[in-house]
Amino acid sequence: MQDSRKYAKITTHVLQEMKLKSEKIAMLTAYDFSFATILDEAGIDVILVGDSASNVMAGHSTTLPITLDQMIYHASSVMRAVKRALVVVDLPFGTYQGNSKEALSSAIKIMKESGANAVKMEGGKEILESIDRILSAGIPVMGHLGLTPQSINKFGTYVVRATDEMEAEKLKRDAALLENAGCFAIVLEKIPAMLAKEVTESIKIPTIGIGAGPSVDGQVLVLHDMLGINLKFSPRFLRRYHNLNEEVTGAVQSYIHDVKTLDFPNEREQY
Ligand code: KIV
Repeated sequence: MQDSRKYAKITTHVLQEMKLKSEKIAMLTAYDFSFATILDEAGIDVILVGDSASNVMAGHSTTLPITLDQMIYHASSVMRAVKRALVVVDLPFGTYQGNSKEALSSAIKIMKESGANAVKMEGGKEILESIDRILSAGIPVMGHLGLTPQSINKFGTYVVRATDEMEAEKLKRDAALLENAGCFAIVLEKIPAMLAKEVTESIKIPTIGIGAGPSVDGQVLVLHDMLGINLKFSPRFLRRYHNLNEEVTGAVQSYIHDVKTLDFPNEREQY
């Protein structure tokens, strides 16, 4: 049994306690009821209803097209499954960057209509006013720094971020700002492991890394990538725990064969 299973229900306070006790936090994405049930029963600490749904569920090349209503659909499906994990939902692109009033109404809509526990937002200083306003409404916020995929058109590429001193310094300042604002955790995506370590040691709230090395307080991966459903995406940081693509292909091919050869259904599989 996992160490963190001792917590009956994961809350933002439990994550804080886990950081204090140096217990690592395990987070994965989920977008639907069936996978969320498996993840929750397996003992995952945090489920992220990521806007990566735009890529892995809808087939878009970026996270930009997914809408607030689509995120709410995914989040409500996940919430119907989850009993123990903390569920965090991404505020999608264009629903919080404009102004803080719009950001608050987007966050409230997600919380009201999905029943999720918290929202995640990409960025630092630039979105601080929106973060403040959402936090003031009693909605927990997880930050996201480093490679922030909603800014792909500004970055122009998905390469590792904050390798130069200027960007690294900004990231450290942003992490401190998010902590002071009251965020309960920060995702650090695709940044040098040493920088992630420095940030993790400099703030009291947990950091969750993806491509940020081992010295963070927890790790997150996109479920479809770690299960080997999507074989086209293979960055260095990704560990594949299964080749579900191969297994599902095999099962589907067996089914096709059985249907075409009249092997399925057999006598016991009919009324
Ligand atoms: O949308 C997502 O899945 C994410 C994770 C990669 C952190 O933001």
